[in-house]
Order: sequence, then C-alpha cells, then structure tokens
Amino acid sequence: MATPVRHLLDHQDETVTVRGWLANKRSSGKIGFLQIRDGSGVVQCVVSRSEVSEEAWDDMKRATNESAVRVTGVARADERAPGGVEIHATDFKVRDLAVDYPITNKEHGTAFLMENRHLWLRSSRQRAALRVRSEVCQAIRDFFYENEFTLIDSPILTPTACEGTSTLFQTDYFGDPAFLSQSGQLYLEPAAAALGKVYCMGPTFRAEKSKTRRHLMEFWMVEPEVAFLEFDGLVRLTEQFIVSLVGRVLDRCRGDLEVLERDTAPLERVESKFPHISYREAIEILQREGQEITFGDDFGAEHETILADQFDRPVFVSRFPTAMKAFYMEPDPEDPDLALGLDLLAPEGYGEIVGGSQRIHDHDLLAARIDEHGLPREAFQWYLDIRKYGTFPHSGFGMGIERFVAWMCGLSHLREAIPYPRMLYKIYP
Ligand code: 4AD
Repeated sequence: MATPVRHLLDHQDETVTVRGWLANKRSSGKIGFLQIRDGSGVVQCVVSRSEVSEEAWDDMKRATNESAVRVTGVARADERAPGGVEIHATDFKVRDLAVDYPITNKEHGTAFLMENRHLWLRSSRQRAALRVRSEVCQAIRDFFYENEFTLIDSPILTPTACEGTSTLFQTDYFGDPAFLSQSGQLYLEPAAAALGKVYCMGPTFRAEKSKTRRHLMEFWMVEPEVAFLEFDGLVRLTEQFIVSLVGRVLDRCRGDLEVLERDTAPLERVESKFPHISYREAIEILQREGQEITFGDDFGAEHETILADQFDRPVFVSRFPTAMKAFYMEPDPEDPDLALGLDLLAPEGYGEIVGGSQRIHDHDLLAARIDEHGLPREAFQWYLDIRKYGTFPHSGFGMGIERFVAWMCGLSHLREAIPYPRMLYKIYP
C-alpha cells in the first residue's frame, strides 16, 4: 500500500512506497534527486545507483517530468527536505512515461495554459489555489452547520429568472423553455418558512456578455436565507460570516498562501466592524475622486476599487435606488425609492464579493414589482404564495465563491479560482 506524502513523518525509518508523478529531477552518474508529487504533498527521493537494481536505475534515468512513478524506500527525517522527510530509495519504477509534456518550466502565455487547464492544474500555484477553495467550501459548510442552518439544495433547472432576464442561459425542457439557475434565492425563501435558517451552495449561471477578470459564466454561490431577519441583522450575519472565513483561511492555508506569495497583512486586518456607507455616500466619494458618475448609475470595477481603497477592510454599500436592483428587494422605510440591499466590497481591488437584501414580504407590493419588471406573474405564483400564507420579514445574501477565493489567494483573475472556468465563448476543456 502506498503512503500519502503528507503522512510520511509518521513513518520515519520505515520502508514506505509512494506513488505519484515526477515533479523534478537532478541526477549525476551515481545519484538521482527526485521530487515526487502525489497530490497530498511533494517529497524528495534519493536514488543511489549502488542501492537499487539496474532496472530501477535505468527507470530513474529515463523518467521525465510528470511521468507516473512509484518509489519504495526508507523514510528518513531531514530538516532540509520540504516536509521534513526524504526517501532513500530501494526501488523505483516508471509506471507511465510522460512524453512531450506541454507545460515546462519556461514562461507560458495564459491562453496556452487555459487550453491546457486539465494539465495546468498540476502546477504548484494551481494546486495551492484549489486547496484554498476546498478549505473555503468546508469552512462555509462548517459555519452554517455551527450556526444551526439547514442545507437546502436549490434546483439548477428553473422556469423563471431571479436576477434579470438578460443573463439567462436557456435550454429546452420537454418542449418548454427552462433556464439554468442564476441564484437559489427564490427557492430558499419558501424553505426559510419551513426551516427558519437555510442555505444553499452550488453552481449558478449567468450569460454575461462581459469579458472581465471578475465574471464567469458558471460560478459557485453560497446563499443563506433567514426568517425574521431584517436588514441590520443581515449586515451583522454577513460580517460575521466573512470574518469567520478569512480567519479559517489564515489559520489553515498558510502554506498555500506562501506558495501563492500572498501578502497576508491585508487579510489579517479583516476584523469587525466593517465600515458601512450608503449608495448616496458612495456616489459622493466617487465624484470627489473625479469620477464621472451620477446618482442612479451602477458601479464599474474601477469605482468599486476606488471605494474599497478608502478603507482598510471590506466595506458595505447599501440602500441603492430601487430601479437599479432586482425586483424582490424591500424598500427602505425612510425613503421608499431606495432598496434595503447591500453589496460588500473587498479590499485590494477584488470588488463586490457579496450581494444581499431584505426581501419584500408584502404580497401586493411584490406582485406589483413583478409586473413592473415585465416578469410573467403565473411563473412566480408559487413565489408569491410565500407572501399569502403567513408572510414574514426575511433576508439573505449571496457570495460568489470564486471572488472570495481570488481575494484570499491574491489571484488577479477568477479563472484560477475554479478548476474548470467557463468564460465568454470558452468552454474547453
Ligand atoms: O449580487 P448577486 O447577483 O446576488 C444574487 O444573485 C442574489 N440572488 C443573492 C442572494 O441574495 N441570495 O450575486 C451575488 C454574488 C456577487 O456578489 C458575486 O460575488 C457573485 O455572486 N457573482 C459572480 N461571480 C462570478 N461571476 C459572475 N458572473 C458573478 N455574478 C455574481
């Protein structure tokens, strides 16, 4: 049985077998130093000509980077070795020789790497980012589990739009149109009436014709929805969630952040309490900073960066003009032309990572908004039902997992925060 590299320290001075891929090799006439990667870590193996069979020595010599290999030998503690252990080989075998592996140590362009995403995943930075993503997803589940939320898996095939009809991917559902889900929110709201505190986490789809480093066509979103939670409570929940996730990444992903050369100082500053400005104040700040923007305009990426740069931690922007936002947002009681919606902007130019709101719970107001947005009332009847039978104030938010991971890892583009990105006109591999 093979021992995972990650567990080698527990097997000091024992004979172990490691299976994996050759990451690097240096050899002379008598000795070879091999870095072997098995997914759990990388270990250095020393193959001495005098210690192994002729066949094993020949295999060591012909082994190329990314060949699948197997090494057997004694695990010896060595402070200089990464992971603190080195294997002194007694046997070595090439299981499959990698010939002309396309990704080499020289610089490759992004287009080439994206074409080879299935292989690019093997490189150290990509592995580190994917491990951080995995930790973030686990931390999300733990956060909601510990806070007594129930997981509600929302459907991917849906009959209606959630976030606007312009970004729907349409498909055929036995002769009727169906759409890939833009958000699980509409399905969470009824579930909140059943289970109180609920969340979903899964892929969401936006046919955004925008080619930016912050937009994917398919991204993962986590969305909580809480019965009887009003706007101020939503702000607190969002902040508590983000502080908890950042803390978890700092706690458990140090090694990966080092591989990614992430300066962690800005992440260490992510503590309560986050600054909070209104949309109106945001517009004033932007105008002061010389931006040509007027009340009612949406923020572009540059605007979000300017706003975030005013603060040393994530900043809430809230109370947007109703016309700018989705149909379901509760009006601000102090100014009904504004919606009780919030965006959370991450520092360092990572932009909006969370969007959320208090939802309209009045039946007639919601019905009117559905009509105003030109949405088909019949398709939303079930959603209106929630306001018909024991309606209740409620709120929730959505966080894009790739945006959060990109921020944690210091990635300049979302494409490296998801294993197989789906981008404008690009669906390979
Ligand atoms: O602000 P959005 O559109 O909100 C909703 O979908 C709500 N229904 C969520 C809710 O209240 N339950 O999207 C939420 C988040 C954004 O803040 C962003 O992090 C991410 O989803 N997001 C994207 N991430 C990658 N690519 C895209 N095209 C994204 N669009 C939104």
